[in-house]
Formats: sequence, C-alpha cells, structure tokens
Amino acid sequence: MAGRELVCVTGAGGYLASWLVKFLLEKRYVVHGTVRDPCDDKNSHLKALEYASENLQLYKADLLDYEGLYAAIEGCDGVFHVATPVSAPVANPEVEIVEPAVVGARNVVNACVKAKVKKVVVVSSVAAIIRNPNWSKDHVLDEECWSSFDNSKPRTGWDWYDVSKTSAEQEAVGYADRNELNLVTVCPSLIIGPMLQPKINSSSNFLLLLFGKSNLGEFYHSSSSSSSAAANDDEQMDNEKIDFGSIGLVDVRDAAESLLLVYEKADARGRYICNSYVVRVEDVVEKMKKLYPNYNYPKSYNEDIAWPKLSSKKLQALGWTYRTLEDTIIDSFNNYVDRGELTKK
Ligand SMILES: NC(=O)c1ccc[n+]([C@@H]2O[C@H](COP(=O)([O-])OP(=O)(O)OC[C@H]3O[C@@H](n4cnc5c(N)ncnc54)[C@H](OP(=O)(O)O)[C@@H]3O)[C@@H](O)[C@H]2O)c1
Repeated sequence: MAGRELVCVTGAGGYLASWLVKFLLEKRYVVHGTVRDPCDDKNSHLKALEYASENLQLYKADLLDYEGLYAAIEGCDGVFHVATPVSAPVANPEVEIVEPAVVGARNVVNACVKAKVKKVVVVSSVAAIIRNPNWSKDHVLDEECWSSFDNSKPRTGWDWYDVSKTSAEQEAVGYADRNELNLVTVCPSLIIGPMLQPKINSSSNFLLLLFGKSNLGEFYHSSSSSSSAAANDDEQMDNEKIDFGSIGLVDVRDAAESLLLVYEKADARGRYICNSYVVRVEDVVEKMKKLYPNYNYPKSYNEDIAWPKLSSKKLQALGWTYRTLEDTIIDSFNNYVDRGELTKK
C-alpha cells in the first residue's frame, strides 16, 4: 500500500499513537485521529506535527460512542485501533477499564465493517499472551499463546488491564472473522522511549522510576508483567527495591513502525508479538549507570518474579527491526531532560 491513503487512528493523542500519527504523516498518509477532546491542550502536540495542518483531522470520539467513531472511520482505507484505558488501580475497573476496551473494540470493528475498510490493525498487548498459569519458565511464548484468567480469584490493580486487553483482542478478532474483515493484531511488551505527548503515560514511568524519579503515578507492576506474579498491585512503587526481576521491552518508535509494517504488508495475518528484549531489570540499570552514573538507581530486584520468554520471529520475518537498548535509553534520557522531568547531573 502506498501513501496518500486515508487512515484513521483511534486515541491519536496517546503515547504510541502520537508516534504512529507522526510516521503516517511523514509517509504522506492522510489521517483522521480520534481524541476525546480535540480542544484539550494534551492533544496540541498533534497539530504541531509536520504535515498535520494539511493532512491531519481530529475527531471527537469516546470508545463508547459508536457514531463518533464511525464519523472518523467512514471513507478510510485503513484503521489503526490504538485507544484503550491504560490505568490501574481505579474505583470500578469493570466499568472504567474493561467495558471501554471491549465495547470500544467492538464499536471500532463494527464501524470498519460498515464503512468497508480494507485493513484494520488493532493494538493489543503481551498482556493477552503471557498471563496463563500453564506457561512454564522455559516456554518461549509465541502468537499461539493466549492469556487465561482464573475467574474465581480476586483481581487487583493491573489484572483488570490484562483482562481488558485479552477480551478486547478476542472481541476484535472474533468479530472480524465472522464478518470477513482483514484485521491484524500487534501485541507489544512494555513500551519505552521518548514521548511526544505532554502528559507522561504509564509505561514511561518505568525508566523514570529507574532513574530515581519519585512521586510517580501509576506504573506497570509485576502483575501485568509476569504469568506468576503476585506482587503488591495497589501500592505505589519506590525505586529502592524493584518488585520484579526481568521485563520485556520495546522502543515506542519500533512499536509504531511495527504497526505501519503490518498495515503495509499485504501478507500480514493474525497476531504479532512486538518485543525487542526480555531483560533483567538489573542489566537495564547497569547500562543506564554506565551512561549516566549520577542518579539514584534501584538497589535490589525481586528475581523470583520474571517475565516469560517471548518470540517476535513472526514480526521479524515480515521485516521488523529494532534499535539497541542503549539508543532507547539515550533518547529517553534526552527527552526527559528536555521536558524537565529529569535534571542533568
Ligand atoms: N505503553 C505500553 O507499555 C503498552 C504495552 C502494550 C500495549 N499497549 C497498548 O498500546 C495502546 C496505546 O497505549 P499507550 O501506552 O500509548 O497509552 P496512552 O498514552 O495512555 O494512550 C491511550 C489512549 O487511549 C485513549 N483512551 C482511553 N480511554 C478512552 C476512551 N474511553 N475513549 C476514547 N479514548 C480513550 C486515551 O485518551 P485520553 O488521552 O483522552 O485519555 C489515550 O489517547 C493501548 O492499546 C495499550 O493497551 C501499551
């Protein structure tokens, strides 16, 4: 597929979606971006992107607002469904997290079928892959693997997000299959790297936490990052002791490129895990220390809680490549300093 096509991106002002919109505009796509409030300052960065004035139009749409979504999707060749509530804990997770994710996915694919969209890319998560008590430590998880939740156990914190991503992906895939819609899903691991949007998103707190920035809000705890985790979801984390030992990471720009890749490759099918590294957090910190020695880094890690191994071979076979972790750390650091989140020491 070539540029000058009309595509829609849901949740355009978010962390990952902002990079996707930037790359789409640079490739001369015409973009309809949905946001909850086009006048909110948190979306102002979109209007400043190159080619935005001529090729980006923002639409107001909540995930529960079918008509609003349809208005943005109508006439589009392709749709990237990125929006979902990314937060924990909240007072009523079924209503605030699961319902918008699942009903939103249904609304988007429903609108795509009605609007005869040629191709849909849905952003899922490894949360829809790794949360399954049957996965052993040595099992390398691929796209055949689905998370499975024990409904008899109480859910806390990020469990609800993991449930929402799994259910939303299943909803989108099932609906697309029944309606012969060309739909591909991408499942990224924890996304890090420079931010374009003004408000810090959840996953960017991971590197900021390792740099010793305190008073962070929500963060992906180990419950979302391990199939066997049982850590303290509702407590805010300090960076003295990290309550997990390893994590799967991908740079936000590589994740955004993967969405474009699966969209543009006509032979892309099914699910794609998008993960660059499953690394020990201590090894990430060692790299950070070498580059920037003067920060207050964590002192211990809970090595008993580890991410499973993940294979991105399917995405790599399609042509996906990713940058080094050092490059991501350097670009993130410079971004945090430029934004005033970190002081240069
Ligand atoms: N970041 C990660 O580590 C990671 C990893 C794997 C998968 N993902 C997936 O990647 C996608 C983007 O995540 P992100 O990290 O970029 O998070 P983000 O910055 O929080 O973006 C989420 C977007 O969804 C929008 N949204 C939330 N609830 C909505 C609703 N009810 N109606 C309409 N829009 C709504 C948000 O809009 P507002 O600004 O108005 O709230 C925001 O634009 C999500 O699907 C997420 O599950 C992220």
